[in-house]
Amino acid sequence: MKRVFSGVQPTGNIHIGNYLGALRQFVELQEDNQCIYCIVDLHSITVPQDPKELRKHILDVAALYLAIGIDPKKSIIFVQSDVSGHAELSWILTCNSYTGELSRMTQFKDKSRGKESAPAGLFTYPILMAADILLYDTDIVPVGSDQKQHIELCRDIAIRINNTIKKDTFVVPDGRFLKEGARIMALDEPTAKMSKSAENIHSRVSLLDEDNKIKKSIMRATTDSDGEIRFDPAGKPGVSNLLNIYSAFSGKSVEDIVAAFAGKGYGDFKKELVVLTQEAMAPIKKNFEEIRETEELKDILRDGAERASAIAEKTMKRVKNNFGLGF
Ligand code: TYM
Repeated sequence: MKRVFSGVQPTGNIHIGNYLGALRQFVELQEDNQCIYCIVDLHSITVPQDPKELRKHILDVAALYLAIGIDPKKSIIFVQSDVSGHAELSWILTCNSYTGELSRMTQFKDKSRGKESAPAGLFTYPILMAADILLYDTDIVPVGSDQKQHIELCRDIAIRINNTIKKDTFVVPDGRFLKEGARIMALDEPTAKMSKSAENIHSRVSLLDEDNKIKKSIMRATTDSDGEIRFDPAGKPGVSNLLNIYSAFSGKSVEDIVAAFAGKGYGDFKKELVVLTQEAMAPIKKNFEEIRETEELKDILRDGAERASAIAEKTMKRVKNNFGLGF
């Protein structure tokens, strides 16, 4: 069995980009692999968080994991800060990383642009992500394409340590990216990726949005004036993004969708996309409501942390031994 690891930051507003790029892969993969799904709270404090809100968002992501169909009997679900190995391994990897390679990360450049100074955690964030992955001898990392560069860095660090410290210290992981959904763009500005933190709530559809909000956000999504439903990401980014979302939710190919809507207008197309999206979100919302306030949710996280710790401790023992740490 292959080992799968991935994580989501508990920063609120989990949206259909997160779902179509990453979360739906989590469910699919748990059938044939040993899957570990983390709520990466240590990552989220790279920008200031309100402690009360953070705690709420951690439990929200845990409930969403269950609501989309992750089965805690098959997969491990846990909170990153409950397993100390993440921070510990992160330091060891930091000592084997270069400031040059971290400076090249586009996410860091985007988040620190125009600021006089940036938190050091924002700079070293990809190393913590590498630690998350390497701590579990991960083979496969299902993520959206915005994480490609971070996965590459993780591989570089693992290979470097295997070559310089000791062979087989780390398993070198592969990213897993979907064809449709790997990069869902903002509805209001289809040249930027859909994000949890964008100010305009209509830039995204969040997984817990009411039907009416879903309708409003999709109906007012930016398109263009040529009126033809055609897939052309460079020339028609808005329509192409909606086609991608349609394809990901329906399982139909973009070509088939374009053929089915030949001669029809954007309004008809958007209306159908609204229904598709509402239908996809309805069971998730219902499950979420049932799970979110239960004690069982916390039990699942406690049990997950224990199972994750057992794996992490083994890896840390091997890594420390290979580095000559301890006695
Ligand atoms: P985060 O919390 O920003 O996003 C969670 C997942 O959603 C994907 N994603 C998208 N996919 C398609 N279209 C979009 N617009 C979109 N926006 C986000 C992300 O690629 C991600 O898979 N650094 C990670 C969390 C992390 C992690 C890890 C992931 C920390 N450690 C270890 C995998 C393995 C992040 O910030 O994801």
